[in-house]
Amino acid sequence: KEERTLALVKPDAVSKLGDILETLHAANLIVTKAKMTKLTWSQAVDFYVEHQSKPFFSNLVQFMTSGPVVAMELMGDGSIAAWRRLLGPTDPAVAGREARDSVRARFGTDGVQNAGHGSDSLAAAAREVEFFFPSTAGPGPSNTA
Ligand code: CMP
Repeated sequence: KEERTLALVKPDAVSKLGDILETLHAANLIVTKAKMTKLTWSQAVDFYVEHQSKPFFSNLVQFMTSGPVVAMELMGDGSIAAWRRLLGPTDPAVAGREARDSVRARFGTDGVQNAGHGSDSLAAAAREVEFFFPSTAGPGPSNTA
C-alpha cells in the first residue's frame, strides 16, 4: 500500500547522501520532500522525546546536534517497512553481520552514530514528517511540494 515515511540521514552519513539516494532509487522509494538542517538541542529532544529516559539519550541528542542532518519524506509501496529494511539493524555491528548491504552496515559506526533513522509506524511517520515539514503555512515560500 502506498504510504509515506520520514527518512533522516544523520550527521555521520550526510557525506554519503549520494549513495543513500541511489539506494532509495533502486528500491522504488520516491523522495517527495527534502531538507538539510542543523537541529537545535531542543528540537532533537522533541524529536526523540519517547527515548528521553533511555541511558543513551544525552549521547543521542549530542550526536544529532553535532552537524547537519538531511530529512526526506519518502513515498512508496510499504515505504515505512521498506526504508527500515534498507537501514538494517540499529547497531551497525549487528548490521554488518546480518545485513551487509544495509545503510547502517555500510555507513554507520556504533549504536548512536548509525547513519539514519526511519519512522516505525504510520503514526510515527505522520508525526515525524510534520516535525520536519510542518503543514501550517508560515511566511515565505510554501513548503508543500
Ligand atoms: P533511531 O532509529 O534514530 O531511534 C533511536 C536511536 O537511539 C537509534 O536510532 C540509535 O541511534 C539510538 N540508540 C543508541 N543506543 C541505542 C540502543 N541501545 N537501543 C536503541 N537505540 C539506541
